[in-house]
Amino acid sequence: MADMSDLLGRAARLAAGGRAILGVTGAPGAGKSTFAEHLVSGLLERGVAAVRLPMDGFHLADATLASLGLLQRKGSVETFDGYGYCALLHRLLNEADPFVYAPDFDRSLGQPLAGAVTIGPDVQLVVTEGNYLLNPENPWAQARAALAEVWYCRLPDAERQRRLVTRHMRFGKSEEGARSWVSQVDEANAAQVSALESSADLVIDMEALGLPPGRD
Ligand SMILES: Nc1ncnc2c1ncn2[C@@H]1O[C@H](COP(=O)(O)OP(=O)(O)OP(=O)(O)O)[C@@H](O)[C@H]1O
Ligand SMILES: [Mg+2]
Repeated sequence: MADMSDLLGRAARLAAGGRAILGVTGAPGAGKSTFAEHLVSGLLERGVAAVRLPMDGFHLADATLASLGLLQRKGSVETFDGYGYCALLHRLLNEADPFVYAPDFDRSLGQPLAGAVTIGPDVQLVVTEGNYLLNPENPWAQARAALAEVWYCRLPDAERQRRLVTRHMRFGKSEEGARSWVSQVDEANAAQVSALESSADLVIDMEALGLPPGRD
């Protein structure tokens, strides 16, 4: 099993020939954002200019989801601007814009926030993380074509669900509301993501890696 130092070395090598994008995926709550943050800070310490780019910034706003009748499915693949995400990834590889601004997802607002991530011209490795990077259908397949590799974060379901419930409660849901959202919404998405694990370039055992919890 690769440790964090091996993973940092492998990530740094991806950008050796010019800017590259590394994808990090896994089921909801598996630790993608936490892992990507650790990876980026470790790369910066090694002198590799890296930035975390969350696919979650491409969540549609609640007002848009409501107009589409999708509010109760927030987090499922059709509730993201997949074409916008795909275009951004290719723009990061092919266009010479000095600064590229990308959205993030603000958990306290529960909404995407435009212009929250800055990707400067010096950035060598973009670490993008989200649920649907291995989805075989377009626009996700076109997005995958922009990624040098995709790494899959694996965490046993019981622990993953426990962390999701805790996080939903921290952001205002009751325990019952959190449990029912996890079992009815998050787990349907988790099943779709987990089915694609074998198409990842690398699978990371998150328990063995043993990272401390990240910020939300
Ligand atoms: N080692 C850990 N021990 C306990 N909790 C953890 C640990 N690592 C991460 N967490 C917590 O688990 C939750 C999920 O982690 P994280 O946000 O990194 O996962 P994610 O895969 O990005 O989730 P999502 O798909 O919902 O964006 C967060 O609240 C995070 O703080
Ligand atoms: Mg996340």
